[in-house]
Amino acid sequence: MTARARYAALPKAHLHLHLEAAMREDTLRQWCAEDGIAVPPLVHYPDFTQFLDAYGLLIGLLHTPERVARLLDEVMADAAAQGVVALEYASIPEKSAAFDTAVEALEFILPTAADAGRRHGVWNGAIVSIDRGAGPDHAREAARLAARFADQGVVAVGLVADERGNPVAAAAEAFRIAREAGLGVVPHAGELAGPEEVRAALDLGVDRIQHGVQAARDPAVLELLAERGTCLDVCPTSNVVLGVAPSLEEHPLPALLDAGVRCSLGADDPLLFGADVVDEYVLAEERMGITPARLTKVARTSIEASFAPAEVKRAAL
Ligand code: ADE
Ligand code: ZN
Repeated sequence: MTARARYAALPKAHLHLHLEAAMREDTLRQWCAEDGIAVPPLVHYPDFTQFLDAYGLLIGLLHTPERVARLLDEVMADAAAQGVVALEYASIPEKSAAFDTAVEALEFILPTAADAGRRHGVWNGAIVSIDRGAGPDHAREAARLAARFADQGVVAVGLVADERGNPVAAAAEAFRIAREAGLGVVPHAGELAGPEEVRAALDLGVDRIQHGVQAARDPAVLELLAERGTCLDVCPTSNVVLGVAPSLEEHPLPALLDAGVRCSLGADDPLLFGADVVDEYVLAEERMGITPARLTKVARTSIEASFAPAEVKRAAL
């Protein structure tokens, strides 16, 4: 059995996946041809802004409900083939090109995702992403929007885009709104900014942290993460492509696990980084020297740390 087949068969939750960038490459090529636009370069981004530009192009391709429905169906089918029993997909409904309003976007996306998940056997929940560069009004609005759909498939709010100059603490009010609605809070922190942003996120009482890998640079922050049991949703290939880590061999994941920090593995933006969630497990074993037993524990952690209902977790663990 290949390592890929072994890790595809391992039940896992995928907790760090941006919906638009989970598009299949064939689908991207077809839609670019239909729209008469050039296929964007993949996997190499001279800087974070150019990465976000590529991401924006994917958002622009999703300009009809039919395309959104096809994306959701393919994402759930791919998740099932990857051994994903619970998927938390992140999306920015305000940016949807297929709908006039964010409310209309969620009214379509949530039931369509739930239906695709049922057909493919993948429990799923939406993380409504707050664009950290878009200011406090947007952050509050996004949190209120997420709150409105709290019992219809939204499980949490996230916080995305460039951390530098946009600290996590600026979203405190939005996080309070989400929490009051019973939602989880899972910001990106400690990706492009340092360990102080991981500490700031912990001070806000977040449920998990997306990335968080910069914590490895501060033993006190590592200790705090381990003590609190806060799960980091780590995406090694993303970190290497975006220059957050120098190489897979030098990635901090082994150090995080050694320090007792709970970690899940995710793909972040598989189309844009060229690796899916199963690849991340294979690379963790083959390039980072993490043992299969430890990776089985990572997969268990991912399920435990997800917002999936107890019966989904019980069936998978
Ligand atoms: N949005 C999509 N991918 C992201 C990343 N790696 N960091 C911040 N925002 C993102
Ligand atoms: Zn991300």
